[in-house]
Amino acid sequence: MNKYVIRGGRPLFGEVTISGAKNAAVGIIPAALLVDGVCRIENIPQISDVTLFFSMLEELGARVRVLNRHAVEIDSRHIHSTRAGYDLARRIRASYYLLGALLGRKGEATVAMPGGCDFGVRPIDQHIKGFTAMGASVSIEGGYITTRAQNGRMKGANVYLDMVSVGATMNIMMAAALAEGNTVIENAAREPHIVDLANFLNSMGADIKGAGTDSIRIRGVERLTGGTYAIIPDQIEAGTYMTAVAAAGGQVLIKNVIPKHMDCISVKLREMGVDIEENGDEILIRRSGPLCRANVKTMPYPGFPTDMQPQIATVLSLAKGTSLVTESVWDNRFKYVDELRRLGARIHVDGKIAIVEGVERLTGAPVESPDLRAGAALVVAALAAEGETEIGQVQYIERGYEDIVGKLRALGADIRIIDVPDMENEEQSIG
Ligand code: EPU
Repeated sequence: MNKYVIRGGRPLFGEVTISGAKNAAVGIIPAALLVDGVCRIENIPQISDVTLFFSMLEELGARVRVLNRHAVEIDSRHIHSTRAGYDLARRIRASYYLLGALLGRKGEATVAMPGGCDFGVRPIDQHIKGFTAMGASVSIEGGYITTRAQNGRMKGANVYLDMVSVGATMNIMMAAALAEGNTVIENAAREPHIVDLANFLNSMGADIKGAGTDSIRIRGVERLTGGTYAIIPDQIEAGTYMTAVAAAGGQVLIKNVIPKHMDCISVKLREMGVDIEENGDEILIRRSGPLCRANVKTMPYPGFPTDMQPQIATVLSLAKGTSLVTESVWDNRFKYVDELRRLGARIHVDGKIAIVEGVERLTGAPVESPDLRAGAALVVAALAAEGETEIGQVQYIERGYEDIVGKLRALGADIRIIDVPDMENEEQSIG
């Protein structure tokens, strides 16, 4: 097991290129099961969640051919199983996308319940509501969810989501792509990766309209055939590097981004006194002066993303004055606060609100990464902190950030990996 050792307190300078979006990739890769042909998928991030998905697809009989670091060919013509086993499925929350994809393609799916929760209860009742409305039966037995379409094919339906859910929107979209008739998803999520999944499916022959709005219309088609598709850049990875510069200072050109996707984050950083210039698919970020306080409330897109909440709270912990950070998507996403306090941050959590009192400086200390984005926030804090910080449980970070150590080193960060004996508990499922 690895740890990161970061000697912070030095500004970041240079260029960083953003990888493909994790949360788009973990939707699009299982969606390739819907395709009765070969899909070439490009701009795939090289992260452990993606590798896990390749193994799950192979277990079902799909052929996965890695073409290079960021491109893969998935051939789902000869799937021989509709059952995703416990060993792999439990390790990644997004394994629930196998339900929608297999239901759509084969009319049935049995998938081990996605693993333990990190930031509160993570139910999938809205996914199930959608499948049921489309004529599928759903049962849970022995740790597995089994779902079957009536007469082997899903039927189009109107589905109104009780809350905005990224996972339910994407899962229902997958189940509907090959359904008989039309499906409408109302109160749909609007995240960039929803649009990316719709674009991927449309490029393979699906008929999906309205992705990116709260009403998505899907006309079921008979068959999806192969094609080539490139995944969008990762909004959260880009946002994380932006917060790293905001916290540590410096000037960095962030390449391969869609600036529109970054607006919700850029607006807050500007409010805090950070300079941000957009130019085509690049963002230049600069911070030399002091940081100002700000209030942040997480919301579904286009609101401020919950997946950036720990990182922005970290920056605010270095701002002048007191800020309020309200988490309105997840019940319990402040587990990192205890770790940040070790570095000297002054944060008090009251239910869904963190009261962040800015301090002059953070100082290095040993910490543990509780989950993916919390781990990223600790990296951001360590880059700004004076002295040495040792971060444990970095396997969480590597689930979602491609080569974070290499990318930060290229920006002048003093970060290295050390190998420690593997005696800690095993990974939980997140993301
Ligand atoms: N919810 C329900 N019932 C459902 C589905 C969701 O009550 O059937 C609730 C959840 O408990 C939560 C809210 O609705 O309070 C939103 O959940 P959502 O379904 O949108 O989350 P998700 O699809 O499980 C994805 C990302 C998360 C990200 C959230 C919100 C993936 C693989 N995961 O999760 O990403 O936080 O959307 O944007 O796309 C991460 O990347 O670090 C990560 C956790």
